[in-house]
Amino acid sequence: MRIDVDAVLLHLGSGATGVPARGRTAWLRARLRAAVVTGALPVGTVLPGTRALAAGLGLARGTVGEAVQQLVDEGYLTARPRSGVVVSWQPPGTAPTPRRAGPRVPSPGQPDTALYPRAQWSRLVRDVLVHLPARDLGYPAPAGHPALREALADHLRRTRGADVGADDVVVVAGVAQVGALLVAAGLRRWAVERPGSPGQGAQLRSLGAQVVEVPVDERGLVAGALDGHTGLDAVVVTAAHQYPTGCVLAPERRQDLVRRARAAGFVLLEDDYDAELRYDREPVGVMHALGPDVVVLAGSVSKPLAPALRLGWMVPPADLREAVVAAKHTADLGSPVVDQLALAGMLTSGAYLRHVRRVRGVYRARRDMLLAALARHAPDVVVTGVSAGLHVYLAQLGPDVAARGRSALAALGVPAEVVPGGPVHLPGDGLVVGFASLRDAARADAVAQALAAARD
Ligand SMILES: Cc1ncc(COP(=O)(O)O)c(C=O)c1O
Repeated sequence: MRIDVDAVLLHLGSGATGVPARGRTAWLRARLRAAVVTGALPVGTVLPGTRALAAGLGLARGTVGEAVQQLVDEGYLTARPRSGVVVSWQPPGTAPTPRRAGPRVPSPGQPDTALYPRAQWSRLVRDVLVHLPARDLGYPAPAGHPALREALADHLRRTRGADVGADDVVVVAGVAQVGALLVAAGLRRWAVERPGSPGQGAQLRSLGAQVVEVPVDERGLVAGALDGHTGLDAVVVTAAHQYPTGCVLAPERRQDLVRRARAAGFVLLEDDYDAELRYDREPVGVMHALGPDVVVLAGSVSKPLAPALRLGWMVPPADLREAVVAAKHTADLGSPVVDQLALAGMLTSGAYLRHVRRVRGVYRARRDMLLAALARHAPDVVVTGVSAGLHVYLAQLGPDVAARGRSALAALGVPAEVVPGGPVHLPGDGLVVGFASLRDAARADAVAQALAAARD
């Protein structure tokens, strides 16, 4: 594709007015290189001749020729005898013809990131930077900064009924890192829930773990189904709010799982990913309290605050702690200290709990709006799960309806994922739908109408 001088000037971002008095070759070379690297001048673009470029830029022809030649020497441009100078470099991993990407739809568990308390967080970070001793800017303690571990232990005792002290807590980069650290600590044979979080099983497999799936029914993970699997090292369970069905693990199943873990020698990874977001009552306390010797409690600020922070916690059993901390050290030399201390400040000042209370109110209203809209437009859709979290589960839609529903919601920018097979008590493909972004009733109505249309 041949482009004219004006188009090149546009991509150089300044036109003739930005040309410096000195170092003009270096300036032009840097501008042209940036235009190529960012894709503004994509591979295959034919540049105007040096005479025309020089005139357009108000530069000597020799200056332009030299800058172009340097980029030819560096491999960004190629001089072709008859056709002129062509852009020949493309960003790594991109297709030759750039494709227009569709809107990026997040996962159904994504919070409304517009609710993130930016002003408050920036005050907390500023405060940390004002008071942080220089020695704290070295490599962090791999288990986490003592101030955050203390604050988290207090928080988990008060809000989740966990019997933990600061020395039990390890700061991690979200729940996602917990599985990775446990694999690195030697746990290789895993069971995950079916249905469960698709990313979790995929992550464990990619790390070389063997993964089996254990069914879920209306009372959560079917503990008895573990009988069919021997030699397990770890079992993942979303006890407070099963992902995706939204049920709560029944009390006798909790007891049973802890008893089985002790008898068979595996650990239970209690994925407490969204437990703070319960709307109809206080969240059920952690299973960890029943068996701290066999339960790894894991949670993060991804749902109440923002996934981008990559900040979470785990409480491994005492006999795994050393291996977990060593794995954390190997993985990333510890989590970022400034953010750790900002979170510690938010927790100890009470601002974190106030924020959680606020977003609970917002999400509760959005969930209610979606359920009301579904009742109006698609009344026979089966919705499962307690009043909690950021998603609902629509059961037994069947493969075609689930797939059509997912596409229709993606077009609205609403995240949904097909759940192949569904849970054992409601077999058939379902759909998990994230409601965090449904800011008004009209949007909830649009979602329900799209789902109703997908069923016709
Ligand atoms: C069930 C479940 N567990 C864990 C995670 C990962 O959470 P984090 O951001 O804390 O790594 C997610 C993310 O959506 C999830 O849905």
